[in-house]
Amino acid sequence: MPVAKHATMLLICAATLVACGKPEPGAPATAALTAAQIQAALANAPPVVPVAVAAVPPEHQNGKRVFDKTCGLCHGAGVGGAPRPGDKANWAPRIAQGMDTLYRHATDGFSGATGYMPARGGAAVPDADVKAGVDYMVSLSR
Ligand code: HEC
Repeated sequence: MPVAKHATMLLICAATLVACGKPEPGAPATAALTAAQIQAALANAPPVVPVAVAAVPPEHQNGKRVFDKTCGLCHGAGVGGAPRPGDKANWAPRIAQGMDTLYRHATDGFSGATGYMPARGGAAVPDADVKAGVDYMVSLSR
């Protein structure tokens, strides 16, 4: 899960800093992180998707489920050039192609200017769920 991975990396960075940083003269070298340091590192972790999805409307609940399970692997953090939901400038020309084209590209796969979109996100996602995933991302990106 991207958030957990990110937090883990932060913790590793923080631990490395504490372990390898030069201690103040006279201060005892500390190798362990305090609970407060760990909490601060977690609190400062930037969100993977900087979009506030406060409440997901009922018609996009299924799309969010599909997104969380499959599409978000790439689209959540923009992996491999995948457009992130909420990145309106990136989505505008895609949306302008029309929903049918977006559904087709998501279902059949699509090689574009920024990367490669695998058919159905590379998983056995049924047609209706692929469409729901597209609808969900588009709803956040208009
Ligand atoms: C393995 C990574 C990956 C996964 C998983 C993935 N995508 Fe994509 N997707 C991409 C990339 C990369 C692009 C951008 C391709 C380009 O424009 O060059 C893209 C583009 C798209 C587009 C825009 C197509 C267009 O015409 O501009 C849609 C819609 C889309 N994905 C839907 C989905 C849906 C729905 C899912 C989940 C079922 C999903 N994607 C899962 C990588 C992924």
